Amino acid sequence: LSTTLICLPELDSTNARARQLAEEDAAEGTVVIADRQSAGRGRLGRCWESPSAVNLYCSILLRPQIPVQQAPQLTFLSAVAVAETLQQLYRIDAKVKWPNDVLVDGKKIAGLLNEMNAETEQIHFVILGIGVNLNMSTEQFPEELNYPATSVLIETGQQVDRPAFVRALLQLLDDYYGEFLQQGFVSIRRRWETLCDMMSQRVSVDNSMFGTVVGLDSDGALRLQLDDGHIERVMAGDVRPQ
Ligand code: BTN
Repeated sequence: LSTTLICLPELDSTNARARQLAEEDAAEGTVVIADRQSAGRGRLGRCWESPSAVNLYCSILLRPQIPVQQAPQLTFLSAVAVAETLQQLYRIDAKVKWPNDVLVDGKKIAGLLNEMNAETEQIHFVILGIGVNLNMSTEQFPEELNYPATSVLIETGQQVDRPAFVRALLQLLDDYYGEFLQQGFVSIRRRWETLCDMMSQRVSVDNSMFGTVVGLDSDGALRLQLDDGHIERVMAGDVRPQ
């Protein structure tokens, strides 16, 4: 994929900017990066803390010719690419958490927010939104975070060279995207299951359903084996170890 990199000192949200560009017919492979976001978006309408120049805030515009139901697979593709880049460059034991987090020892190091524009059958575009905590220090995390968080700096004691991280991440994403378009979700799913922090573990979903994680479905549902043996497909909810 040929990429066009757009790097700016500040944006409200790189996802919002990438969406605008997509609506103006920007090409697949357009990548938007900001040093700082004034209104970084997280999942479930939350905001994503985005202080200046310490982390990566990045959105990638894709135009995959795949059925709409397969679009969620791209979230898992980006989670795998982020976790493996962290492993390869910094030897960090990064894991993926369903549906869209990357964790180290249960602490969040990256979050993914994919947005899509599609009609019933056809995808116009997908925005892969990726936020990775690189050089954030403990004091820079807001106190009221509702989950424990970490960064590469905290994990390794080393400052990260952001351009080097971006290069490695985009290269891996490109490799996996090519593989995905040619061969489908199978190998991404396998990699995701290998990296999944709760694979084969007993978990609860929203504190109301209990079972063992047995895998990921092709539509992005988490497969849970309940105590009576039957498989439940989890489409949404907060999954925690038991
Ligand atoms: C989450 O875990 O809630 C998802 C966080 C996603 C944050 C990234 S930062 C770059 C991109 N632009 C945004 O506004 N959000 C995503």
